[in-house]
Amino acid sequence: MAERETWTSRAGFIFAAVGSAVGLGNIWSFPFQTAANGGAAFLVVYLAAVFLIGFPTMLIEFVIGRRGEQNPVAAFKKLGYEQWSFTGGIGVFSSFVTLAFYSVVGGWVLSYIVGSVTGAYFGDPGAYFGAVSAGPTAIAAHAVFMAITIGIVAFGVTDGIERATKFMIPAIIVLLVGLAVWATTLDGAAAGYSYYLSPDFSTLAKNFGSIVPAAMGQAFFTLSLGFSVMIAYASYLGRDDSLPADGSAIVVINTIVALLAGFVVFPILFATGGAGGAGGGPGTAFVALAGAFGALPAGQIIGLAFFVVLLFAALSSSISLLEVPVAYVSENYGYGRSTTAVAMGTVIFVVGLLPALGTNYLTLYNDVVFKFLLPIAVLLLALFVGWAADREAMDELGRGSSFGESFTTVWLWWVRTVVPIAVVVTLYLGVKAIYTSFQKGVYF
Ligand code: PHE
Repeated sequence: MAERETWTSRAGFIFAAVGSAVGLGNIWSFPFQTAANGGAAFLVVYLAAVFLIGFPTMLIEFVIGRRGEQNPVAAFKKLGYEQWSFTGGIGVFSSFVTLAFYSVVGGWVLSYIVGSVTGAYFGDPGAYFGAVSAGPTAIAAHAVFMAITIGIVAFGVTDGIERATKFMIPAIIVLLVGLAVWATTLDGAAAGYSYYLSPDFSTLAKNFGSIVPAAMGQAFFTLSLGFSVMIAYASYLGRDDSLPADGSAIVVINTIVALLAGFVVFPILFATGGAGGAGGGPGTAFVALAGAFGALPAGQIIGLAFFVVLLFAALSSSISLLEVPVAYVSENYGYGRSTTAVAMGTVIFVVGLLPALGTNYLTLYNDVVFKFLLPIAVLLLALFVGWAADREAMDELGRGSSFGESFTTVWLWWVRTVVPIAVVVTLYLGVKAIYTSFQKGVYF
């Protein structure tokens, strides 16, 4: 079998991991989750969740990946804990299901790029969303998005993933900064910033039970945790740089991109009617923004730039979602990498047909993964590293670490206690939310 690839440099790893983290979650769902959950009050809880729970969890995946030097299932065996392999397996399965609907949304983005050029959504944004979000157009766009994803992954870890993200991440940041600067000139900008940035803690107190799980779910999603993605990416490290330092860089850059997206979206929303109604269902963001682009001067160019950012963000994440099952199947069964990428991508395309036929199925896939499978995976990862493989984990985190021994000690303690408790609460609230949605007929 061919030798396992490794990233060409430390920056290569960071770009790829940032690429996975920065996605639809940052630019599409973050501003709208914030809007739906009362603005700045949500932001505070979200930032706490990212740094206090997300960052330590990312280090869990890094430690397993770098020490295992295998795909996320085989890594556990290599570490001497074969009975824990299913923990990585849950992540492989979640990546598979997530990509099936993530690619459908990626297809929407493609349709909005076309619509920005032709002006098709300017007249009636609601009707345009209806036409492209489900049915033949959605299926065709889903196929194109999936084909691009397969193409990149088939090229391999360095020639495909590393190279693509090294181009896309800087492009995303430059375009977003440009858009945020442009947004300062809008009429509603001040009202938008104030909603975004001045927390109203009475909202937080009133809606604590819904804000906390939303913020936690968003933190895991945006950092790509619980999908074995970071295990897979860290397995290509082949070098002993400081994991806490790399992890902080990734978390900070990812947070900056999300915050920047807020500085673009809130002024736009407030310039054209406020954040009201921004929180209902997967389509609202597209409809609200498309409506705004239709109403603003130079909206066509701004819209195009915005949806190109969204496309790059989606692709740099979708390749990480495909990498996980591809790495597992090609290494486990000894198939070639590009053949596996094509075969796996095709199967995922088929699984994505259902969400491409109805957004209710998209919500179903989304909820099963994010409110159920993801917290279970993170819980198991924390228990594994905190209690079963704690010595190996401490040793691995210490290798090349620039953060000192006491950081490693505190991290382990945190992973043993705080992380599992926080995740169990999230899991409980998530399952409750699924049950409520089921009863309300949201899925079927
Ligand atoms: N982090 C990505 C986003 O914010 C989504 C993602 C989740 C990607 C899990 C890979 C794995 O959109």
